[in-house]
Amino acid sequence: MNTYQNLKTTIENGICTITINRPDKMNALNRETVQEIGDAVKEANESKEVFSIIITGEGPKAFAAGADIKEFLGLTKEQGMAMAKAGQDVFLNIENSPKPVIAAVNGFALGGGCELAMACHLRIASENAKFGQPEVNLGLIPGYGGTQRLIRYVGRSKALELMMTAEMLNAHKATELGLVNHVVAQESLHAKCVEILNEIKSKSPFAIGAVIRAANAYDETSKGFDEELTEFGKCFASEEIKEGISAFLEKRKPQFHKS
Ligand code: COA
Repeated sequence: MNTYQNLKTTIENGICTITINRPDKMNALNRETVQEIGDAVKEANESKEVFSIIITGEGPKAFAAGADIKEFLGLTKEQGMAMAKAGQDVFLNIENSPKPVIAAVNGFALGGGCELAMACHLRIASENAKFGQPEVNLGLIPGYGGTQRLIRYVGRSKALELMMTAEMLNAHKATELGLVNHVVAQESLHAKCVEILNEIKSKSPFAIGAVIRAANAYDETSKGFDEELTEFGKCFASEEIKEGISAFLEKRKPQFHKS
């Protein structure tokens, strides 16, 4: 595999593990990291050595705590939309990967991190994992496909509640709702993913690819993803995002209402 600035990659027994490697920033997904994840998944899909992929985060705390909030500063509506489009494209390619992709969620999966996990075919979580779409705290919405995929996993009613309240789900609750496949102790996370991928490996690779293509066809509708891009971009033209981002960077609560 190539060398990446923000990722570690290994290939072992046909399984390519892609580890987001920014633990001091809670593995936040800056633009370069998103691009690198896309490149690494493409490389793994093209490699004859690889039959499946695990995506995880470095360290015991975070899978990925979202897009890198610092990169939102000063974006225009058009730049916001372009950023979301780049993320949506990478995550769509993960969903369309012909080889099975598992998210090994080892801690916080928030915002873009939760969206990344949702773009994978399966999600295995460690006991300490937490899932959520907290973008409304920043004056923003999910922009990497989260408004669409969350509905598919947990249903419209729960998805709207989660996106409007920014509630964080623990791993067990996320499993109950259908977002997560299995919860295991953190030290067993990789082994559980390997166990599932080895089971899948014993099946017909053509049939596995066909299952993925057929399942993705069930989900296919680009209208919602396009609407997400437009609304994500519009948030950058609002005063509220300035307050939301400043509040995060100053480690205080945002004041969206002037009363
Ligand atoms: N973007 C940029 N930096 C981030 C980040 C993000 N999404 N999430 C965490 N970080 C950074 C913090 O700013 C901090 O950096 P610093 O040490 O330079 O101050 C570092 O990662 C550690 O995070 P911290 O907040 O101190 O850890 P914590 O354990 O107190 O809280 C979280 C962990 C995940 C709850 C908290 O970091 C958080 O709420 N992150 C943002 C989540 C979010 O809103 N994601 C959606 C983005 S669209």
